[in-house]
Amino acid sequence: MKIEDKEFEPFIDDKQIAVKVKEMANLINQDYAGRKPVFLVILNGAFMFAADLMKEIDLSSEVSFIKLSSYQDMASTGQVQELIGLNNTLAGQDIIIVEDIIDTGETMSHLLKKLEELVPRSVEIATLLLKPEMLQKDIEMKYVGFKIPAKFVVGYGLDYNGFGRNWKEIHQLKEEH
Ligand code: IMP
Ligand code: MG
Repeated sequence: MKIEDKEFEPFIDDKQIAVKVKEMANLINQDYAGRKPVFLVILNGAFMFAADLMKEIDLSSEVSFIKLSSYQDMASTGQVQELIGLNNTLAGQDIIIVEDIIDTGETMSHLLKKLEELVPRSVEIATLLLKPEMLQKDIEMKYVGFKIPAKFVVGYGLDYNGFGRNWKEIHQLKEEH
């Protein structure tokens, strides 16, 4: 699969993703039994993960969206832009942040700070992917799908310069030889 000048190869297929998403949802269903969490989905990347995760959630729950951006090409800019903001109905709520991938942790730590100001009851993170070697922030993540190497990935919501989000499998950047 190719996007612009980059070649990508299959990495995590749709079946593996589905199994993992179901596992994560099961844990959340158990942990939040009797509560009504708000799933706070970080756009754009988490849209597909969030849609599949929510289908497996059997709690009475709400979904809310925030749009953040820190990536350009293949590297985090270190600057987090807020394109759609938070609303203050999150006060007193049990929030589960739904994210596609945590890389440096810059985006997440920015959001966690913002959320604190709204005084939610609790905040936990559900991220499908984590690049442990890249992480620069001390962030507690309760639900992590796959820990992956520090290589660029695309598909299942994740993009390279806007493309590849529609692929049902996650692809990894092919090493150039
Ligand atoms: P962080 O702020 O460095 O943790 O970056 C997090 C954001 O960067 C994620 O929400 C993604 O949108 C994007 N990102 C990080 N790694 C990748 C990747 O390998 N492929 C596509 N997007 C990525
Ligand atoms: Mg994202």
